[in-house]
Amino acid sequence: MPDLRNKSIIVTGAGRGIGAAIARALAADGARLTIADRTADEAEQVAETIRAAGGAAIAVTVDVRDRDAVRRMIDETVRAYGRLDVLFNNAGVAQTKPFLDITEEDWRFVTDVNALGVLIGMQEAIKTFRTQGGGGKIVNTASIAGKQGYEPLAHYSASKFAVVALTQAAARAFGKEGITANAICPGVVATEMWKVIDKGFRDTGLTRTENEAFDMFAAGAVLGRPSAAEDLVGVARFLASSDSDFMTGQSLMVDGGMVFT
Ligand SMILES: NC(=O)c1ccc[n+]([C@@H]2O[C@H](COP(=O)([O-])OP(=O)(O)OC[C@H]3O[C@@H](n4cnc5c(N)ncnc54)[C@H](O)[C@@H]3O)[C@@H](O)[C@H]2O)c1
Repeated sequence: MPDLRNKSIIVTGAGRGIGAAIARALAADGARLTIADRTADEAEQVAETIRAAGGAAIAVTVDVRDRDAVRRMIDETVRAYGRLDVLFNNAGVAQTKPFLDITEEDWRFVTDVNALGVLIGMQEAIKTFRTQGGGGKIVNTASIAGKQGYEPLAHYSASKFAVVALTQAAARAFGKEGITANAICPGVVATEMWKVIDKGFRDTGLTRTENEAFDMFAAGAVLGRPSAAEDLVGVARFLASSDSDFMTGQSLMVDGGMVFT
């Protein structure tokens, strides 16, 4: 089991879904967590659950598109735990739109959170890692859509390709300083995000019944079931720990076997 005791870790988008599952698991391993989300009460609830279980967690409200807010999130973490070891850039949004209907506003909404938000998070964390004298880990949540373009999710896919590119570029830029950047690519995970995607399929007439799109996509996993958020925990734990120290620039598929790269 990787040793995460006392590591100071921020997870963005940790108010629910994949981020919450990762944060709870890392805290149970002994890491000290910052639960960062734009939704304050959900972040506080996850932090409270962790503390009630004997772990260490603070909640911070952040919009990952806002550099000042991201800076404050990191500063609050350093104030609470003395340093920052790992930043999970996990916050994200999705939107289903037929290719020809995607507007400039849709593009900006999705890419501002999913790509610009990740860039800002990486930049501010890396500045902090440098002041600490070396080391530090970035773990970004990309997607199978960061490896394949999906038609009614074209702008979402583009934003996740951007996450893979940012991960590779940062790995090259900061490797000599011992700073690593890797990404996790989930497949079809049963979270609130897929409810939004599934509704988008219905609203645009691409599917008719609830969960039809979810079931259709999930059927593509050779392991024969959709993911639960907890399926991402093992890789998150590995990437946060020193077990992954000699690995950087990688985007790991954790999708039940949907996309082979
Ligand atoms: N659910 C899936 O099937 C799936 C598949 C591949 C990748 N992903 C990615 O995993 C990550 C987590 O997704 P999830 O399924 O848990 O979704 P979710 O919608 O359940 O959770 C996303 C969280 O991010 C937060 N968030 C959104 N915009 C934010 C912003 N601007 N600033 C701060 N927080 C913000 C939300 O409040 C929410 O708590 C996302 O990056 C998503 O793109 C999800």
